[in-house]
Amino acid sequence: MVRIYPGLLSKVGLTPLHRNMSFENFVINKRNKKVYEISKEYSSNPEGFLYLYGKPGCGKTHLTVSILKSLHPVRYPKNVLAEKERQLRDMIEYYEMIKGMKEEAERNREFFENGQWQFRPAKALFLKSFHYTTEISSYAGYEAKSKMDYINSLMNYDCIALDDFGMENFTDSVKHYFYMLIDEFYTGRKPMIITSNRSIVEINKIIPGIASRLAEGMIIHLDDIDHRINKERNQ
Ligand SMILES: Nc1ncnc2c1ncn2[C@@H]1O[C@H](COP(=O)(O)OP(=O)(O)O)[C@@H](O)[C@H]1O
Ligand SMILES: [Mg+2]
Repeated sequence: MVRIYPGLLSKVGLTPLHRNMSFENFVINKRNKKVYEISKEYSSNPEGFLYLYGKPGCGKTHLTVSILKSLHPVRYPKNVLAEKERQLRDMIEYYEMIKGMKEEAERNREFFENGQWQFRPAKALFLKSFHYTTEISSYAGYEAKSKMDYINSLMNYDCIALDDFGMENFTDSVKHYFYMLIDEFYTGRKPMIITSNRSIVEINKIIPGIASRLAEGMIIHLDDIDHRINKERNQ
């Protein structure tokens, strides 16, 4: 399987802090093994909600960033594939007809046969939960359309991660903004990873409509030690 990493960190919303977070350097132990496996599986085929919760430092962001970095390439839709195939075949035929272009024809034939042209890199976005609320509340109240435009733009990604959900004050409007987002992704069957320090039972007490939708996906408790504090100690 071809793996294409997102080229620029900032393009997917990642910062230098996330540079070294990947599946390769995630240290597996008894407490996180299952979650690690589920995360790997999810990166090969992200579907629905993946709700990862646990105490600070247990590796939620590390796993989320790892998933985004190793999302598998996405196959173009059928109609696009048919057009691409036609163009490639025409090109090969054209080069074959022209003297001195045999090498070019061969190169294109190899490219055609290895099949990579059928895929594009996955588009991912890492979104801090409070960046989301700041952004969406920046549209004035009466501009409901702009709020929906923003949410729709988030739905263009193959996978988005909402990091640190539940750290904010759940005022009525904040609750509403999250409900809009989660409900759109739920209705559109779009994948989303959500990390939180709060269990789904807690979320259910605050915004039951969200908890109920999330519960249709995977709810995972990551019950590992605080790696941040451990790192400090070992230095
Ligand atoms: N299993 C692990 N192996 C290696 N580093 C880890 C592991 N879990 C967490 N870390 C590191 O510990 C720090 C805190 O992890 P992070 O994922 O940010 O925690 P949080 O659960 O608060 O999001 C980060 O530097 C992260 O890379
Ligand atoms: Mg985190």
